[in-house]
Amino acid sequence: MLGWEHLTVNSLGHLAIGGRDTLALAEEYGTPLFVMSEEAIRENCRLYRRSIERFYGGNGLAAYASKAFCCKAICRMVQEEGLGLDVVSAGELYTAKAADFPMDKVIFHGSNKTAEELTMALEYGVGRIVADNLTELRTLDALAAAKGTTAPVMLRVKPGIDAHTHEFIRTGQIDSKFGFALETGEALAAVKLALGSKNLRLIGLHCHIGSQIFEIDPFCLAVKVMLEFMGLICRETGAVLGELNLGGGFGIRYIAENDPVAYDRYMEKVAAVVRDCCKKLGFPAPFLLLEPGRSIVGAAGITLYQVGSVKTIPGIRTYVSVDGGMGDNPRYALYQADYTFLAAARAGEPKTQTVTVAGKYCESGDLLGENVSLQEVAPGEILAVLATGAYNYSMASNYNRNPRPPVVLVGEKGDRVIIRRESLEDLIRNDSD
Ligand code: LLP
Repeated sequence: MLGWEHLTVNSLGHLAIGGRDTLALAEEYGTPLFVMSEEAIRENCRLYRRSIERFYGGNGLAAYASKAFCCKAICRMVQEEGLGLDVVSAGELYTAKAADFPMDKVIFHGSNKTAEELTMALEYGVGRIVADNLTELRTLDALAAAKGTTAPVMLRVKPGIDAHTHEFIRTGQIDSKFGFALETGEALAAVKLALGSKNLRLIGLHCHIGSQIFEIDPFCLAVKVMLEFMGLICRETGAVLGELNLGGGFGIRYIAENDPVAYDRYMEKVAAVVRDCCKKLGFPAPFLLLEPGRSIVGAAGITLYQVGSVKTIPGIRTYVSVDGGMGDNPRYALYQADYTFLAAARAGEPKTQTVTVAGKYCESGDLLGENVSLQEVAPGEILAVLATGAYNYSMASNYNRNPRPPVVLVGEKGDRVIIRRESLEDLIRNDSD
């Protein structure tokens, strides 16, 4: 199935990822455990690169949105595959630096960057700083002036598009904390401020219309809105901006019913709209940036848990409790996110029961799924949750002082731990005596 090619059922009937038996992985590394397929991640990176080459003459760059999953190993992989990197905090930027990521290919985001973060971006020589608001633009101008340098700036614009996604993860419309509104004239004022500031170099515009989007049309509409605005900027100020960043948001398969768009179809349509609009407006096709996060790592990862108790409340429901939960995956608690669950030892067998999968945290809302179908499972068995590679580890917490699980990467050269399991000692490391 699209996006899940790295998952198979082996001759023992066990779920395998990248050819590795998940029961053997759970045995070796313990549970809860994140496992990611290196081949799947690299292939997703290549899909973006190839589609930009094929449909847009290579005049663009896909930058992996590291908020989906950030660690040194993923930064290195992404770099080896020729992608850029989107970071959104000093922590993500520091990780990129520690992985020797080329700073000219880093895009620095954030709706409320601190002066320390902006200073760090200038010192590291980050290639593009995406400004969110006028305060930030002024601060950046002053910081760059104090350093005797010029800051490369893009402006985050709200194109006002409803991308039909969960309200919590929709960021493109006017009532959003992110970016400059077009309708109010705020975006044009920001452009004028940036163009008039000696220590800012305005290189283009950015927009991000939401996440887990399955249609191409909202992206095409965003392209039109943004290019028309670039046309307006040209008429009003004479400036021809050279770059357009379309953000991320491409949907992935969490459950069989999800039908993600093939990236090359996306790029084919979007590239055609860009060319068409630019022709009408009479200016050169811009360098295009994309910021895929979920679609690079999401389906590439799975979580393995050990089942503890199985509690049947007659006539009500059956709770299958696992040794992790909202601390490693808060997405059901936050967004009622859908997932696919499998008994790892009988992955190919029919699912014969409907259960609620509960975590071990002291919170009734600590569930991973309700009314989900599953094979029979007994205490001690391994439960797999699919497509947990994005926004799971990166959103994990130490609630109830549970250590965060490790992340193991399976690849052609075997498997390796890319983030080690936290120890109890790690949990008290920052406590004062
Ligand atoms: N670029 C910008 C400016 C973004 O804000 C985001 C995501 C991305 C790129 C990457 O979007 P993606 O391709 O991953 O959809 N925690 C939520 C998702 C929040 C997304 C925030 N921004 C979740 O677990 O679904």
